[in-house]
Amino acid sequence: MPASSCVEKEMPLLNRCIEDMPEGKEQAVGIDDLSVYVPRLFLPLTGEFSQRRGIDAGKLAKGIGIEQMAVPDAHEDAASMAAMSLLDLMRRNDLQPEEIGKIYVGTESSVDEAKAIGTYVIGMLEKVYGKGSFHECSTVEYKAACIGTTFALESLSYWLAAEDSELAGVVIASDVARYPLSSPGEYTQGAGSVSLLLRKRPRLLAFEQIYGSFTRDENDFFRPTGAKTAVVNGKHSNQCYLDAMTGAFDSFARRAEKKGIIKLDREKDDCVTDHIDHLLFHIPYPRMVEYASASLFRHDWKKSSGRVQQMEREIGPEPKMQDCRDAAEHQSAESDYARRFSKSPSFLQTFNEKVSGTTALSRRIGNIYTGSIYLGLASLLETKRLKPGQRLGFGAYGSGCSALFFSAIVQHQAADVPSLNLMQKLDSRKQISLKDYEMLHEQKAEKSIIKPHEEFVFAGMDSQGYRHYEYVTSAIE
Ligand code: HMG
Repeated sequence: MPASSCVEKEMPLLNRCIEDMPEGKEQAVGIDDLSVYVPRLFLPLTGEFSQRRGIDAGKLAKGIGIEQMAVPDAHEDAASMAAMSLLDLMRRNDLQPEEIGKIYVGTESSVDEAKAIGTYVIGMLEKVYGKGSFHECSTVEYKAACIGTTFALESLSYWLAAEDSELAGVVIASDVARYPLSSPGEYTQGAGSVSLLLRKRPRLLAFEQIYGSFTRDENDFFRPTGAKTAVVNGKHSNQCYLDAMTGAFDSFARRAEKKGIIKLDREKDDCVTDHIDHLLFHIPYPRMVEYASASLFRHDWKKSSGRVQQMEREIGPEPKMQDCRDAAEHQSAESDYARRFSKSPSFLQTFNEKVSGTTALSRRIGNIYTGSIYLGLASLLETKRLKPGQRLGFGAYGSGCSALFFSAIVQHQAADVPSLNLMQKLDSRKQISLKDYEMLHEQKAEKSIIKPHEEFVFAGMDSQGYRHYEYVTSAIE
């Protein structure tokens, strides 16, 4: 198998890799490989879309950070996309059904109110691997808006660590992000699926098994039962995301210090983020990752007097309530300071080193809800050279709202995991017109735009509402 070019083989950083810690080696669990499925249709957001919606294309490209949107064809849904990413994962790893103990699926675009989406996925995979081949594998659906897959990953990691066999676990994210036509959410839509192979002694990333969490009841984004599109309070949702991320990060930091995984040198103005080499966030749209990074670094750096002095030299002091006439003036000073912080040399340098590179795929795919943070991982693998021993920090968010912050260490064998070549794959997608996109969005398209070929297809629903899927080997009309 070709070696991936994105991970350098060299001496580990601070002996964090599992093979450098003999006592921890047997217990270590994490991500061994991943696979990404993206529909083959896309809509460019410049040109016809921005003209007809009356939106400046510069706003979409710069203000939102998005250029293209992945669009599922008429035969695709969250279940068929999940089956596609799982099939690819199994083929990449020559994995047999009996080697998988559990398949947990995170989705908020599920296809049934009761039946677990994973049972449909297993039904599809059995069309390739044989009927009954997954009988011993259990499957559960996780719904918690965009954070469902990360809760699934957390649970599966503990099952794997406790399991006394060599069975693997699979976590699948699969979603179609759909907002009403012409709404402000429309240009953040996307679709796709990510499958993560979790194993003991993983090749790619070993979890440090610290999950910092934050939860609060919010109305930022929800989809009442039966509704096809989400209700969203856009600006409020951005703020909920930032609050929850900070809360989960603090929870992670406390736990990581207590466990001794991160040891802060207070005399050297050491911050928790100094111990994280790359940060990945949930990506509803790429610009949100910039807001999240600025908010998190600002919060973390405030704990170091040296950093506070540095920021004062660069952009002046933080606004204080007692210096303002009222709350409105303070709010305005605060927004101004946040803007200057996000343009400061210290922030921009840190952002370029630790965060940029995680949104490259999302710019061309859009929000895939539960899988978007793992699309960020795929982007990072394609755009940066990771080194064994480096620590990745993951900040997952789900509306409603919850956040989870966890960490994982890059492994020596990461360089042996074959590249996904996703950028190249995106180049071969078919561009569709605004009219075709609107027909697909409103579920009025009578047939697929690309004839299905070697893929799972939704073949229709019977009179009881049970969904039928097929594996199509040769192109059908
Ligand atoms: P909006 O009204 O499109 O955007 O809403 P805006 O007016 O706030 O502008 C955005 C940025 O573009 C601003 O930048 C503008 O200045 C800039 P900033 O001032 O912040 O630096 N801009 C321009 N830049 C360049 N050239 C121009 C130009 N014009 C303006 N000409 C919003 C954006 C995200 C709210 C909307 O798209 C929306 O409602 N999206 C859906 C909800 C969402 O994605 N929320 C994110 C947080 S919640 C979340 O992540 C959970 C979620 O994934 C669901 C789940 O958990 O299941 C959504």
